[in-house]
Amino acid sequence: MSHHLFSPIKLGQLDLNHRVVMAPLTRSRAGQPGNVPTSMSVEYYRQRASAALIITEATQISQQGQGYAWTPGIHSDEQIQGWKAVSDAVHAEGGRIFLQLWHVGRVSHPVFQPDGGLPVAPTAQPVPGKTFILNEKGEGVWGDVPVPQELDIKGIEAIVSDFRQAARNALAAGMDGVEIHAGNGYLLDQFINSDSNQRSDRYGGSIENRARLLLEVVQTVTEEIGAERVAVRLTPMGRFMGMGDDTPEQTFGYIASRLNQWNLAYLHLVEPMMVGTVLDESNDPRWDAIIKQLRADFHGVLMLAGGYTGETAEQAIAQGRADLIAFGRPFIANPDLPARLRGRTELNPADGNSFFGGDAKGYIDYPALA
Ligand SMILES: Cc1cc2nc3c(=O)[nH]c(=O)nc-3n(C[C@H](O)[C@H](O)[C@H](O)COP(=O)(O)O)c2cc1C
Repeated sequence: MSHHLFSPIKLGQLDLNHRVVMAPLTRSRAGQPGNVPTSMSVEYYRQRASAALIITEATQISQQGQGYAWTPGIHSDEQIQGWKAVSDAVHAEGGRIFLQLWHVGRVSHPVFQPDGGLPVAPTAQPVPGKTFILNEKGEGVWGDVPVPQELDIKGIEAIVSDFRQAARNALAAGMDGVEIHAGNGYLLDQFINSDSNQRSDRYGGSIENRARLLLEVVQTVTEEIGAERVAVRLTPMGRFMGMGDDTPEQTFGYIASRLNQWNLAYLHLVEPMMVGTVLDESNDPRWDAIIKQLRADFHGVLMLAGGYTGETAEQAIAQGRADLIAFGRPFIANPDLPARLRGRTELNPADGNSFFGGDAKGYIDYPALA
């Protein structure tokens, strides 16, 4: 039977009445000190509650997991309370919300690290690029990332347990579930991709070993809050933050198959033409085959994101390429995106200058249809 963008779907225990999802979007506006969601964030998410599901901006599971200025966390009581206000507002509008759990690994800087130490990674290999840090005056500036410190086994175990605690905190904050961020060149992706993982222990080398940390995190988080509340986001063949893998078909095929072991809420994949926040149309010709293979390898609900329009989303659902489509930039600029897609109404353009940091402008002032 063929489905449509506006046909209902079941996600774990949740009945969604359509398939237009709000993608996770970092907006760098957490309250200071403490990286706590503010009343402005409550309003931002409330405005977008007509999404079939909101996936929150990436949220650090620990202080060590932070890599950019003003991103929110889910490891302190204040943050749990801040997120509770967000989930309450979304639920009051009839919406659903998953919190995206994030550890940046090497994409960090001593200014964010406990005791000003080095960021951690599978291997002492720096990311090519910069991250958005804070200077002594508390202003956001682009800063070079240092050579990270290679994680030892104790350090890895501590991170798995931080994921467990963060998932528990997310439920305490009223979230319907969590999405484990295993893409975009952050910690879990750094373990998965062969270019950024030169380890010779059980977390490096073979595909099984490179996938181990992600699978341990999934095992732990599902144990803690139930598989139907847990999702995973992957960016196979992503190039953002210096990622690269020798055999992406095999690596991501293995992961997709192994994820069948749990009855997860969904698996979320990002089209690789999306390099971070920028669309690069020079799509890798292998992708189309890979997405079909991953679709077959994974037996649960599949979500896709990256450069979708209402039309291409409708096609992807009707053709069975995906079950749900997540929209990023269109949701920033159109709080009522589902209504606009349904009515084929014009979309507000997104202003890239206000994506990261700042105030209400470009955050909660995009107009909805009358
Ligand atoms: C401003 C901005 C922030 C983003 N932050 C996140 C994030 O926190 N976590 C994540 O997994 N992806 C993040 N992404 C990627 C989006 O979730 C999405 O995959 C991407 O924007 C492609 O979808 P689109 O073409 O509909 O915008 C971000 C993208 C943008 C534009």
